[in-house]
Amino acid sequence: MSRVELIVAPNLNGATRWVAERIATVAESIVTDSGACSLLVAGGATPRSLYELLSSPLWRARMDWSPVSVYMGDERYVPPNDPRSNFRMLRETLLDRILIPPRNVRPIPTSAGNPDRDAEIFAELLRKTLPQSEDGVPQVDLALLGLGPDGHTASLFPGSRAIRETERLVVAVRPPDAPTPRITVTAPLLNAAREVVILTAGTLKAGALLRVLARDGTPESIPARLVDPVSGRFEIVTDLEACERLDEEPLRDGIVTIRL
Ligand code: 6PG
Repeated sequence: MSRVELIVAPNLNGATRWVAERIATVAESIVTDSGACSLLVAGGATPRSLYELLSSPLWRARMDWSPVSVYMGDERYVPPNDPRSNFRMLRETLLDRILIPPRNVRPIPTSAGNPDRDAEIFAELLRKTLPQSEDGVPQVDLALLGLGPDGHTASLFPGSRAIRETERLVVAVRPPDAPTPRITVTAPLLNAAREVVILTAGTLKAGALLRVLARDGTPESIPARLVDPVSGRFEIVTDLEACERLDEEPLRDGIVTIRL
């Protein structure tokens, strides 16, 4: 794993504000340079407050969403209006409250009745709508991820075959204890991003964060260690609670800690 900036806020609110500021800054600078910006976003509970902050009046006035495309990074294989849908959460907390062109909203499809087919459809969409990295991989400007207590990120779970995927950009997975299949982007897509931000907070994530940053461990046991951008920036934005175990083991090289 190359260089990672560990951004430590006092709490989730501080971490959320930092990520919101980063997203707005990236969007403003990328749009100035290229006229468009692409975000790949996470599901789960942690980013809810980030999406609600970005859709608040102050931030709506701050950020022009019209040149921004938003791609879901992973999805539960349920209809888009299902309470478990990541896209439904994103729509309710952000998309329905901002002025973003519908064509720029890129959910992961779950309507083919076949997760593998829908994964192929989304991969094709990524190839058709994103610019390519120097390695010919579709390149998002910023990928936002979460971190599970077991060290998963997106829907790349410990022991999953998807961890070792090197060709396909999107795959269907069937986590052993999950009620539904999932569709997830894979490491090749994530690591082609111009910037990757993992937003995680709270005591429950302290063990996973330690294992992500410790010198030992493998992607099989802690899939978030797959995140290692080829040339992009990599930030882990967290809070004091999630960092409370970082003195238990030697950490790997390349970590730059910034305390907010
Ligand atoms: C999902 C997410 C998943 C999430 C982690 C952390 O579909 O649930 O994409 O990868 O980021 O599970 O979830 P919390 O933020 O809810 O702890």
